[in-house]
Amino acid sequence: MKRRIGILTSGGDCPGLNAAIRGVARAAYEMFDTEIIGIHDGYRGLIQGDYQVMDRSQFSGILTLGGTILGTSRQPFRNMKVIGNDNVDKVAAMKANYKAMKLDCLVILGGNGTHKTANLLSQEGLNVIGLPKTIDNDLYGTDFTFGFHTAVDIATDVIDRIHTTACSHGRCMVIEIMGNKAGWLTLYSGIAGGADVILIPEIPYEIERVAKVVEARANAGKSFSILAVAEGAMDKEEAKMKKKEREAKRAASPQSISQRIAAQLQDIAGVEARAVIPGHIQRGGSPSAYDRVLSTQFGVHAAELIRDGIFGVSVALVGNTVTHNPLSEIAGVPKLVPTDHQMVQIARNIGISFGAK
Ligand code: F6P
Repeated sequence: MKRRIGILTSGGDCPGLNAAIRGVARAAYEMFDTEIIGIHDGYRGLIQGDYQVMDRSQFSGILTLGGTILGTSRQPFRNMKVIGNDNVDKVAAMKANYKAMKLDCLVILGGNGTHKTANLLSQEGLNVIGLPKTIDNDLYGTDFTFGFHTAVDIATDVIDRIHTTACSHGRCMVIEIMGNKAGWLTLYSGIAGGADVILIPEIPYEIERVAKVVEARANAGKSFSILAVAEGAMDKEEAKMKKKEREAKRAASPQSISQRIAAQLQDIAGVEARAVIPGHIQRGGSPSAYDRVLSTQFGVHAAELIRDGIFGVSVALVGNTVTHNPLSEIAGVPKLVPTDHQMVQIARNIGISFGAK
């Protein structure tokens, strides 16, 4: 009996999406009689019934390709305050299209928001399997998401390149790294790039402490400093604010966090400072070898789950083992950097400052 597998990619893209799609498809074609339906632009395509029946050849040559061949979209539920309650029609539409496409299951590649909806669809009776992707690495239940290591490589390359120009000019360079809620990317690339200061949302900083680090380096004959700052980093005052208040303050400011910190350091420490924002470059291009392997592992595991009739789960890496967690246990649970995480301790032990005690 032919199995019809729907695949969609939702939320912000990241390197490794196509490698994971290919992994699912190749393993499924290999293991059982398969037809794959590619749903366009994430949940938008599922809501609107926008899809294509895929040909085997479409999964060829995409291992190294960045982005997603299926397209993606963010927040199709923007006007839906409580998913599943306020605008039941969108959920009903997704269920109806799942039926109309005669799907046996749906493989959903995405981050936290995407997994929430995947869990909802699973609770609504659809056969769903989640695959955890995001450069933020903030999905609960998996040690790593695919896309993360590539972004670490890119952000590290940015820091390396900034290092040489910082050193030549004797400047303080503030590099703004993606990650609004979670600081994993900043933490890893900051360590890999040899940053002097790492600021992440989970550890609110004091600008005076940051300035002291820069001054101490200058006094020790180091004319330059490198700061790796997560876009969602916040100082102690902001940390006391309610989330909405903080967001409104940020939105009203013409400066991003790195620009603000660079200006403050010029004032307080009297150094010449520059802000650098690599932005979406961190999400673009070909996946690293690590992510090609991880995406393939995740995709193949999803196909194995389909073969075995196991649904309502999300694939995960735990230790060195590829496994899966119930969607109900992990969906919507953010994985932030614990302030006592070993990597934080390791960074502190080599003298990296977090701008806080
Ligand atoms: O979730 C991945 C991510 O790149 C975050 O690090 C970042 O805050 C956000 O997406 C940017 O979103 P957008 O692509 O919608 O601007």
